[in-house]
Amino acid sequence: MDEKFTSYKDNDDNRIVSVREIEGEDKEEATLRPRTMGEYVGQQKVKDNLNVYITAAKKRKEALDHVLLYGPPGLGKTTLSSVIANELGVQMSLTSGPAIEKASDLAAILTKLNENDVLFIDEIHRMNHKVEEILYPAMEDFALDFMVGEGPSARSVRINLPKFTLIGATTKAGMLTGPLRDRFGVICRLELYSPEDLAKIVTRSAGILGSKIEKDASLEIARRSRGTPRIANRILRRVRDFAEVKGSGVIDVKVTKMALEAMEIDELGLDNVDRNILYAMIDKFGGRAVGLDTIAAATGEEQCTIEDVYEPYLLQIGFIARTPRGRVPMPIAYEHLGRKIN
Ligand SMILES: Nc1ncnc2c1ncn2[C@@H]1O[C@H](COP(=O)(O)OP(=O)(O)O)[C@@H](O)[C@H]1O
Ligand SMILES: [Mg+2]
Repeated sequence: MDEKFTSYKDNDDNRIVSVREIEGEDKEEATLRPRTMGEYVGQQKVKDNLNVYITAAKKRKEALDHVLLYGPPGLGKTTLSSVIANELGVQMSLTSGPAIEKASDLAAILTKLNENDVLFIDEIHRMNHKVEEILYPAMEDFALDFMVGEGPSARSVRINLPKFTLIGATTKAGMLTGPLRDRFGVICRLELYSPEDLAKIVTRSAGILGSKIEKDASLEIARRSRGTPRIANRILRRVRDFAEVKGSGVIDVKVTKMALEAMEIDELGLDNVDRNILYAMIDKFGGRAVGLDTIAAATGEEQCTIEDVYEPYLLQIGFIARTPRGRVPMPIAYEHLGRKIN
């Protein structure tokens, strides 16, 4: 699957726990992508609901209602979208909010769809308003409204579109305008994965890559992958390199730990950037509540990167808390970093 539309273009793209895609990785990633609901691990509630809607739409021979998928990067939004299209037995066209510059770009995409097809728009919160406005009648009435002519003789022309399913993906559901959000019949929030689910993903990926992996090694990788399949697969590939060069080729716990240590990923999956964020909060700001902008300035990371990529996991493991006055580090973060609470 082509994902060159991804918006994250920071300079730390080669970090191992980066959840963005690394250049050239998308091809490898494509081979690891599940194609069916059966292969798609975890997210049980989301899958259960979608299975009902997919079955109902197929029975009625209608397009599935529009679906909004949201959650942090690397959790499987693009993957799930192609699984949905596959389960529906339809084609999927793929684009992204920032890639659609003009209303006519969107019109060109929409008029090429076949009946009941899926149109996937990644980063849908980054679509411009002109484009968004022509999307409303397209989603609601499967029609495009155009103005023809100018002045008093101007009139509106309506072009009918094939019925289609829009699947929008976003890391920031809060940034969607109300009218756009309201036009999605199905809204699914993807959650960070449990270590058990990530271990299943790692085992499956190792199988596809043709590597032998021991059960406890899968779990070790899973535990250090911040709840994120993309990171789990990425760590797996690096551990496999270590196993082939420094070990017997079989991925066991010993070589896994060696590789993770070399990558400076700790037992909880935290890397240097996570630690820098926590050190800044604890040492520079003495544990006071601080805003994301302050943390960004102190660490040299971008604010949106901290918010989308780092914060969800640090919140999930209870290392930081969000308060009305800002973010605060929690006692277990102090403990993990060997700092005293003063
Ligand atoms: N539920 C899942 N089961 C198995 N593998 C998954 C799952 N979700 C994601 N992956 C793997 O993680 C990678 C990243 O997923 P992707 O759909 O690109 O995330 P997103 O679009 O949310 O950033 C995919 O290549 C896929 O191999
Ligand atoms: Mg994606």
